[in-house]
Amino acid sequence: MKPIMYLVRALPGQDLEPLRPFVDLRGGEQTAPPRERLVEEARGATILAPTYIDRVDGPLLDALPSVRHVASYGVGVNHLDLDACRARKVLVTNTPGVLTDATADHAIALLLAAARRVAEGDRLVRAGGWRAVDPAFMLGTEVTGKTLGVVGFGRIGQAVARRALGFRMRVLYTSPRAADFPDARQVDLDTLLRESDFVSLHCPLTADTDNLLSQARIARMKRGAIVVNTARGAVVDDAALAAALASGQIGAAGLDVFRDEPRVPQAYAGLENVVLTPHLGSGTRETRAAMARLVLEDALRFAKGEPPRHPVP
Ligand code: DGY
Repeated sequence: MKPIMYLVRALPGQDLEPLRPFVDLRGGEQTAPPRERLVEEARGATILAPTYIDRVDGPLLDALPSVRHVASYGVGVNHLDLDACRARKVLVTNTPGVLTDATADHAIALLLAAARRVAEGDRLVRAGGWRAVDPAFMLGTEVTGKTLGVVGFGRIGQAVARRALGFRMRVLYTSPRAADFPDARQVDLDTLLRESDFVSLHCPLTADTDNLLSQARIARMKRGAIVVNTARGAVVDDAALAAALASGQIGAAGLDVFRDEPRVPQAYAGLENVVLTPHLGSGTRETRAAMARLVLEDALRFAKGEPPRHPVP
């Protein structure tokens, strides 16, 4: 009998046919079902494939005791209770590497958009607000030559740093480990926040990084600094950031991720100096298809009894 694989929602751009001889594919609707229906539909599944937003925890695993492999679509694992998976000897895999460049590109896009008021200018032009030529109108902030602080210096943080060097930026970073990256300087978080004109977040969401960009830390940043978040929404205290954007303590922000997606805190809606995107960091056709390919590859390996390529420890 073929093992059952349940897709919590559809994975884009991936041909599922090669899997069919080996696994019985179920689920995969455009939106994830509510938990009760999910449990019903996934009953008997050996492989469960959530995306980076679909919570997998102890109660779900207890409701689906046949699940032996959680093949997660995405590199972040904060939506998975890894202890619960370990305790039940459930294999977890994810999709690292393939989304590094797309996410770094998006971070730079947000950084530039925030600094140069791209979204605000677009809104203004569309609304007919550009009425006179004025060289002092809608001035932004120069990017070239400024200091970028990268919080979390894994694959994506380093890819952002490489791009920033193209803008002749000075790059500071925080990381638990020193990186082999001679053009960037490792510093502690306080130094990074104090010295950076731009701060881009690339750390995983853990108990230690929840609300890392707190009111107190925001207050210690350079006045007018720009914040970019393509990591996880919960790394930022939204109320504090919105207040700092309103007061000018933070000059602008580019935010791609939010604590309770797809809900975006209302506090940002009325602010012109924040650029909001709907979790598009990895959102290119090529990258989202590559992520799906890694999910399916490891599911196939699991179904054949082969060791996974991308296990999460
Ligand atoms: C991930 O893979 O964790 C990303 O957030 C998806 O864009």
